[in-house]
Amino acid sequence: MFNRRQWLQIGALGAAGGLVSPPWSARAHEPGAPSSSSPLLTPFVDPLPVPPVSEPMMQGKTRIHTLVMRAGLARLHRDLPKTVIWGFNGVYPGPTIRAVRGEPVVIRQINRLPLLNASETHAMPDALPAVHLHGAHVAPEHDGHPRESIPQGGFRDYHYPNTQRGAALFYHDHSHGHTGRRVYFGLAGTYLIEDPAERLLNLPRGEFDVPLLIQDRVIRSDGSLEYVLDHASRESGVFGDLILVNGVVQPFLRVKARKYRFRIINGSNARIYDLQLSSGRPLVQIGCDGGLLPSPIERSVIPLAPSERADVVIDFAAVPVGSKVILRNCAGCSGSTAEIMQFEVAESAQDDSSLPDCLSPWENLSYDPAVPPRQFELNRRTVNGQAVWVINDRIYSMSQPPMATVRLGAIERWRFVNPTNHPHPVHIHLVQFQVLNINGVPQDPARHGWKDTLVAPAGGEITVIAHFTGYTGRYLMHCHNLEHEDLGMMADFEIIP
Ligand code: C2O
Ligand code: CU
Ligand code: CU
Repeated sequence: MFNRRQWLQIGALGAAGGLVSPPWSARAHEPGAPSSSSPLLTPFVDPLPVPPVSEPMMQGKTRIHTLVMRAGLARLHRDLPKTVIWGFNGVYPGPTIRAVRGEPVVIRQINRLPLLNASETHAMPDALPAVHLHGAHVAPEHDGHPRESIPQGGFRDYHYPNTQRGAALFYHDHSHGHTGRRVYFGLAGTYLIEDPAERLLNLPRGEFDVPLLIQDRVIRSDGSLEYVLDHASRESGVFGDLILVNGVVQPFLRVKARKYRFRIINGSNARIYDLQLSSGRPLVQIGCDGGLLPSPIERSVIPLAPSERADVVIDFAAVPVGSKVILRNCAGCSGSTAEIMQFEVAESAQDDSSLPDCLSPWENLSYDPAVPPRQFELNRRTVNGQAVWVINDRIYSMSQPPMATVRLGAIERWRFVNPTNHPHPVHIHLVQFQVLNINGVPQDPARHGWKDTLVAPAGGEITVIAHFTGYTGRYLMHCHNLEHEDLGMMADFEIIP
């Protein structure tokens, strides 16, 4: 199935220095841009792929999926040779899992990935993969903690009860020290929990409900992916100079002149997007990390940090048939990362879907103001001349005692202070939290919705509040800039009875 060149790619996946960057790639570098660059590629020539939906085997009410993590081939752009990726079932992105609230899912993850070679481990110990369902409310042994990794050639069954609200989650590798590399090479996929009660809202469904997994990559002219952990990327994380949606560089989607629902997931290692439509019309946000917002919010720009999700409705009925709308990223407002994908409004259509004013009930979590929030400092240190990232002065290690111990059932405020000059998207496992404060400014939690990731801005701070229910045991919290995570900005917390 692989030819010689691709076998060489497998052998040298990400090995820095194997290839020099092509002489014709003369693109200006934006801040945080990779040190080498991809060839120039024509945008909007490949159709948006919709990842395959995994078909489960039923065992009673439980849906059982089997996924094999392995190398595979993918065409990332019309004008590029095929790329060796690591994917769930060898596809990138992984198959979409569709779950129903209240109906359990088991995913058997089989590890047939190649071992990392010495140039890929950067003197860090090699670590086997683990799979985390990001945003899920699950028992600790099914949360994909890197301590419970999957042996090569072996498997692990992850049990997901799906008792939480309907939401767009995503599953990805969570290996110790190597999450950045493994996700970059393709180990991520969408997991949608549908709440049958939400059907009454009559939001766009079926082919009009489309997941968009946005990621940036550097792709060499031979098609191989370039992942380099060097001085610059240890600082800012690994950035790409090409934007891919569902595994294809700047795709297009032919749409009907009607409403669509897009589950936008930022699956990038480090890049924060500012999503915007070229039509100048606002995006209508109906949901975020933890499911539907109380009511739709029109936003001219939606900022989206790594692992944040935005559930968005775009009504193409307002756009003349035959015209095009570009989903832009105004964070890098020029160059190859300024445009994400293009919608071509191809035909008029009946639209029987709705966009109700009330989407879901909301209640603020309440707390005792006399109890101060728990405090975490997100900081940078230098060890042997190299940047590392710490929380409360600790580099993550799996053998440390937990940084915080929380009573089961407690409602706690957590404050994250960021004295560094990088934004840190803070992610807490197990819970969906509410946002109380950003940089000293009190927030209306209902406008943020239920979140599992929030940026602590450079030089700023955030306070969130969460209800720790359901399970006791060890969970993680970390920066979701995957290089910061791999280089130490992560901690265990433990929920005790
Ligand atoms: Cu999406 Cu612990 O991560
Ligand atoms: Cu997570
Ligand atoms: Cu960070």
